[in-house]
Amino acid sequence: MARLAGYLRAGLRTGLRPGLRLIVLLGVTAVMAVPSFEAAAGVDLPKLEKGKGEKCVEDTATMRRNHMDLLKAHRDDTLRRGIRTTRHSLKACVECHASSKTGSVASSKEDFCVACHSYAGAKLDCWDCHATKPGKRAVTQAAQPTASLPSNGGRQ
Ligand code: HEC
Ligand code: HEC
Ligand code: HEC
Repeated sequence: MARLAGYLRAGLRTGLRPGLRLIVLLGVTAVMAVPSFEAAAGVDLPKLEKGKGEKCVEDTATMRRNHMDLLKAHRDDTLRRGIRTTRHSLKACVECHASSKTGSVASSKEDFCVACHSYAGAKLDCWDCHATKPGKRAVTQAAQPTASLPSNGGRQ
């Protein structure tokens, strides 16, 4: 998986135009057929609980590869351009992907967002501020009275 994460990272951070980037990623996926990546990792792929509803906000393959970009673009739209939509909002992800066991996307290592990230060796700080459970305030201002965006506009 380190290898896959590396490929993903390389593909995602090349700064290619989205269309080109998709082609690069599709190429990577074709080479890295799932069984070999599973074998290379030497462990089972994380078992993910299916989200609520029929489908995700984009098709599943797109979500697997591009959710981080969608989230970041949505954040920029919201914070810099004042556009308020919910299609790619982090709150919506949490509403559909909270675990039926823990009620959260990130409290146990089987929870949806964590399962893959710990597997891929990715660590997110999003949950320092954003609720991991549905129905909570989008940003935990109570816990973080001074919650405000870093001066770089929230880029990590
Ligand atoms: C230091 C606190 C903090 C951290 C860490 C943080 N955010 Fe935010 N984020 C905010 C605040 C404050 C807002 C504005 C809330 C609002 O206006 O709804 C926001 C808004 C957003 C929005 C738009 C509103 C929504 O619900 O979709 C997205 C998307 C988002 N953040 C994604 C992320 C992601 C992804 C991460 C982790 C990579 C992250 N944020 C980390 C504080 C933070
Ligand atoms: C309306 C409910 C809903 C919302 C909102 C939603 N999802 Fe999904 N998501 C789903 C469903 C259902 C699936 C499984 C689709 C399938 O089986 O093909 C899914 C699949 C995924 C997958 C692929 C999982 C896999 O099996 O590999 C990822 C990654 C994902 N979602 C991330 C997100 C993120 C990030 C957000 C927020 C930007 C989000 N989802 C918002 C319902 C939702
Ligand atoms: C199918 C596996 C999978 C699922 C499920 C998943 N992610 Fe990811 N996520 C990844 C991979 C792989 C990366 C890229 C890691 C890297 O580049 O180091 C990533 C990266 C991210 C990043 C960018 C991190 C950064 O600092 O650049 C964000 C934000 C993110 N995911 C949010 C989410 C959220 C929120 C959920 C749950 C709704 C979720 N992801 C579910 C696989 C997944």
